[in-house]
Parts: sequence; structure tokens; C-alpha cells
Amino acid sequence: MDNRPVLLEVENLQTHFRTMDGVNRAVDGVSFHVRSGETLAIVGESGCGKSVTAMSILRLIPEPPGKIAGSIRFQGRDLLGLSDKEMRDIRGNEISMIFQEPMTSLNPVLTNGQQIGETLRLHQGLSKSQAEERAVEMLRLVGIPEPGRRVREYPHQLSGGMRQRVMIAIALACNPKLLIADEPTTALDVTIQAQILDLMRDLKTRVGAAIVIITHDLGVVAEVAERVVVMYAGRKVEEAPVADLFRTPRHPYTQGLLGSVPKLGSSLTGQTSRLSEIPGLVPSLKQKIPGCVFASRCPKASDLCRAVPPGLALKAPGHFAACHYAEAEGSVAA
Ligand SMILES: Nc1ncnc2c1ncn2[C@@H]1O[C@H](COP(=O)(O)OP(=O)(O)OP(=O)(O)O)[C@@H](O)[C@H]1O
Ligand SMILES: [Mg+2]
Repeated sequence: MDNRPVLLEVENLQTHFRTMDGVNRAVDGVSFHVRSGETLAIVGESGCGKSVTAMSILRLIPEPPGKIAGSIRFQGRDLLGLSDKEMRDIRGNEISMIFQEPMTSLNPVLTNGQQIGETLRLHQGLSKSQAEERAVEMLRLVGIPEPGRRVREYPHQLSGGMRQRVMIAIALACNPKLLIADEPTTALDVTIQAQILDLMRDLKTRVGAAIVIITHDLGVVAEVAERVVVMYAGRKVEEAPVADLFRTPRHPYTQGLLGSVPKLGSSLTGQTSRLSEIPGLVPSLKQKIPGCVFASRCPKASDLCRAVPPGLALKAPGHFAACHYAEAEGSVAA
């Protein structure tokens, strides 16, 4: 039993985009929760709605063309009901995010120190010199050598890995309760990846933040996550404790993704641990699919699957899957 209090509760999240040729149901009825101090991974193929889910939590979806519905409760408050000002106070302070593209989310005309200091001055009212002092401390904490010098340099003077560390420093400067990391290591080479992951783990123990990590990389999932949500075409199709998911994936989509997975706990170095390829394409999110969203690519699909959408059902303790044919614990495989 996990007794940690629930920090974030997302219920029936629907984020749709109005486009020229119809409504894109990027996220279509997704629910999950994150406990204090927990690390949850969200995985799934490109375009399945992972980043949109993250941006919806922080209310960073442009409206229009976007529209968010459902409920997102953070420490009991519904974020969708807050004013813009209340939301700004939460963003970067209580919930912070490491974005998928580090270069585009750093401001090229501000020094590394100013970028870190900006959030501190905004949220914690520090003076200029206090903010710089704290920025140096943060750069040191994320393992940047000579932080006293680097704090006055600009992002383009840093390597990709160092820039990602600056992003992490910004994200953690205010000791957030929740860190959302969208593909934090994808653009980096494996050695740096491993260092960044170590750093996130270390900071998690030090600061006690909960982490939602979005990744394509199953090696990363195996190394850092406690629980995993698998998304497909804007829906959650499976959720399970990490060891359980790797040992007994129950949804045919997850089974496909795990086709070539390194063993749980094996080192990242030198491994390729990308999701494996599943034949076929993700269906367009602009048409209503009557049955299971995965039916068009599923080796087990039947008429039932094409007609009736499977609900998420409990298959083992803490393990849910949305598949008519996923076996429950103790049942004999066909
Ligand atoms: N501002 C927007 N306007 C219209 N459609 C959008 C917008 N942002 C995202 N989408 C659409 O939402 C869907 C989900 O995109 P999202 O970025 O969440 O995918 P993802 O799972 O993060 O993929 P990746 O792994 O490639 O990062 C896509 O079809 C995308 O085109
Ligand atoms: Mg994304």
C-alpha cells in the first residue's frame, strides 16, 4: 500500500484542438494521479498526447485553438478554476517543467544566472544579489563546474548537456512539489543522459519533489519510475507499477512497445532502449473511433474490439488495462 498523500489528480482530462479539418482530440479522457515524492512515467509513441497532457496541467495550452476540460486537482485545488494570476504563482514555484526542447525554452539574451534568478525574484521576492547568489548555488547543485563564472555566461556558451542542467536548475530553484520533465534526456548522448538521471534522482531525494517524466526511452523508465502510464491515441491504455508492467504487460499495445526492452535495472550505457516499432499507424485523432483505439493495429482485435471501447479494468493490484482480452491475475492465458 502506498500511503503517501495524493499531490496531483487528473480526472477525465480532455484537451482538444480545433483545426481547419476537424477537432483533434489530442487528449481524450485521461485520468491518473501522482503521490507526493513519487515518480510517474508517461510513455507512448509520438503524437499520442504526452506533451499536451503536461502542458494542460500547467495550463500552457493556447486557447483557442485548444480547449481543456475535466479536472486537474493539485493539493486539492482545481487548477482549471484558478485565475491567470493564481496559476502564475503555481507555475515555476510549486509545479515546474523541463520542456522537450531546451534551447528554445532558454532565453538567449539573458545570462544563465538571470534565467534562474528570474523565477526566484518573481516567486520569492529575492533581491538581485540574493538571486545571483542562489543561482550560483543551483548551478553548483546541478553539477556545473565553475558556477561563479558560468552564472554570467549565456546559454549558447554551454554544451547541450550543460544547458539541460541549467533547465533543471531553473525548474528546481523554487523547490517545487512537482517537477514535470518532458523528454529531459532524449537530445543528449548516453553518458550525459545517465548523469542527468542521476541528478534528477539525487534532487528528488534532496528536495522531495514528485516527478512526472515523459519519455520514449524504456531504459529511463526502468531506472527512475515507480509507476507507469501508457498512452495511445490520446487515451490511457494501461497503468501499472513499473516492475509489474515490464514483467507482465497486459495491453497488446504495451506488449508491442516492450518488444525490445533492456532488462529492468540494467545499465543505460551503450544500450538502445527505444520503444520498438509496431506495424501500422496511429489512427487520426480527428475521427471518432467507435471501439478500441488500438484495434486497427492489434493482432488480437475481434469484432467486439472494433465495436465496443474497452474500459480500464483492474487486472492485478495497481495494474489497469483497457483491453477486452487482457487477462486478469490468476487466469490462464489462452
Ligand atoms: N497547439 C496545437 N494546435 C493543434 N494541435 C496540436 C497543438 N499542440 C499539439 N497538437 C496535437 O496534439 C497531438 C498530441 O501531440 P503531443 O505533442 O502531445 O504528442 P507527444 O505524445 O508529446 O509526441 P512526441 O513524443 O512526439 O513528443 C498531436 O496530434 C499534435 O499535432
Ligand atoms: Mg512531446
